[in-house]
Amino acid sequence: MILIFLGPPGAGKGTQAAHIVSRYGVPQLSTGDMLRAAVAAETPVGKKAKAIMDAGDLVSDDVVAAIVEERIEADDCAPGFLLDGFPRTVAQAEMLDAMLQKKERRLDAVIELQVDESALLDRLRSRIAETKARGDEVRKDDNEDTFKKRLDVYREQTAPLIPFYENQGKLKVVDGMGAVEEVTAAIDAILSEFQPDSVAENG
Ligand code: AP5
Repeated sequence: MILIFLGPPGAGKGTQAAHIVSRYGVPQLSTGDMLRAAVAAETPVGKKAKAIMDAGDLVSDDVVAAIVEERIEADDCAPGFLLDGFPRTVAQAEMLDAMLQKKERRLDAVIELQVDESALLDRLRSRIAETKARGDEVRKDDNEDTFKKRLDVYREQTAPLIPFYENQGKLKVVDGMGAVEEVTAAIDAILSEFQPDSVAENG
């Protein structure tokens, strides 16, 4: 099963990804997490990405696509995978299509999490408070100014993926405003059409 989670910052992509990983046994491929790991390790990609991410902009399509292409070769991606935060531009979506075609694999569904912008800001504030309460470091891009920039970037560069995947017949819309468990149930209802056989077939 190959899935994409699409949605603005704070929509709950990472939260719901944890459920998909445990229920369907496919890995979560978060380009945000991969890039943050590269920044922390001070790799050449991380050094280039740091300032871009801190400003709430997008890292270049070629860099991110190369990271994903390498990652999906790994054995744990054989049964499928969940892309969280990729693609984020139409160019990335076209690169993904080409990658999957080359590997003779097929995207099953794109799940769009829809959440009101005011709720997104509330979630950001909660995440910052929870992170601080745990004594962890708050993400450099998790502050209100940069978050607004990330929302602008989403509207301008990522939202065009909605019609892109609608045209491919892959888009499934989920109301992301409910409680975490309600959103999970809505996603499960959509994925119930993917029977074990089709999971194996697609892997
Ligand atoms: P990335 O790490 O992908 O961040 P994002 O898309 O902005 O998403 P977030 O992690 O902020 O939110 P989320 O939707 O996962 O929400 P979460 O589950 O945490 O990207 C960061 C940066 O990396 C980008 O800005 C860019 O620079 C770069 N990058 C990454 N991918 C790239 C790409 N493909 N191309 C170029 N650049 C790229 O939930 C948020 C909060 O809400 C949490 O506190 C959670 O507990 C809470 N919550 C979740 N669900 C609910 C609910 N139903 N009700 C109430 N609260 C909820």
